[in-house]
Amino acid sequence: MEVDRRAFIASLGGPAVVALMDHEAKAEALEHYMEERLDEMVAQNQSGQPEKFPTVAEIEAQIETRPYRRGAGSVFTGQRGENVKKLKPMPDKPTLEDFFELRFAPANHVLQSATRAMKTGMSEEIILACLLHDCVLSLIKPDHGWWGAQLFEPYIPEKSAFAIRYHQTLRFFPDEQAGYEYPDQYYRIFGHDYTPPQYIQDTYKMLKNHKWYMEPRLVTVNDLYAFDPNAKVSIEPFEDIIGRHFKQPKEGLGYDNSSSAHMWRTLARPDNPL
Ligand SMILES: [Fe+2]
Ligand SMILES: [Fe+2]
Repeated sequence: MEVDRRAFIASLGGPAVVALMDHEAKAEALEHYMEERLDEMVAQNQSGQPEKFPTVAEIEAQIETRPYRRGAGSVFTGQRGENVKKLKPMPDKPTLEDFFELRFAPANHVLQSATRAMKTGMSEEIILACLLHDCVLSLIKPDHGWWGAQLFEPYIPEKSAFAIRYHQTLRFFPDEQAGYEYPDQYYRIFGHDYTPPQYIQDTYKMLKNHKWYMEPRLVTVNDLYAFDPNAKVSIEPFEDIIGRHFKQPKEGLGYDNSSSAHMWRTLARPDNPL
C-alpha cells in the first residue's frame, strides 16, 4: 500500500506532534494508519462506490500548495515534499544503461511496459519505444511525448521515435479495437472534466489517418500503471534490442554534439545553476 506521508503526518496531529514521538510510537502509528487505510479501501470496494475523481478546478487549486511545479522533471524535485538527494555522478562516457541506473531509476513503469510488449510479441522497434517512452519525465513532464522523441531521435529507429512522440496524444483517445481504454489515472491527474487542448486534438486527427498510427497506439496499449511490487523487472532482457537499435555514441551520451546532447548533459548534472 502506498503511504501518503503528508496525510499520515496530518492524521497524527502534524509535524510538531510527530517530532515528539519516539521511534516505536511512530512505527506503531504507521501500522495503525495503514490498517485504517486498508479498511477504508476494502469498504470502498464493497460499497461499490466509484472512486471520486477531482475536477480541473480542484487540481488547479492545488498549484499554490506546492513548492515546485508539476511539470518539473523528477530529478529536479524531492519525492513527496522531501529534500532532494545527492545524485551519483555519471561516468565520463555514459551509455543508455548508465542513465537507466543513475538518472531514470527506478524506471519500473517503462521496464514493465517493455516487458509486456516483449511478452506479447511486439516488434523490436515497439519494445524499444516502450522501454524509452517515459524516460524523459526525469527531465521534464509537459509534452513528454515530443521531448522524449527529441531526446532519443538521434539514436533510435524512426518508427520508435514516432511511437514515443505520439503516444502522449493517443493516451487521451480510447481505441477499443486496439484494446486501449481511457485511463482512470488521467481522471486523477488532469480532472474528470478535462478536455485535451486543441493541438492534441489536431495531432490525433493527423494520426488517425497516418500509416504509422499503430506504432504509438501499441505503446499506449502497453502503457499500464498497474505494477506488481513483487515483479522483478530489469534492463537485462532488453540488452540485445538496445545493442541492435540504439546507436550508442563512442564519446558518451551528452558529448557527441548531437541535436539532443545538451538534454543528456542536463540530466547528468541537474544541480548546475546555469
Ligand atoms: Fe507517457
Ligand atoms: Fe507511460
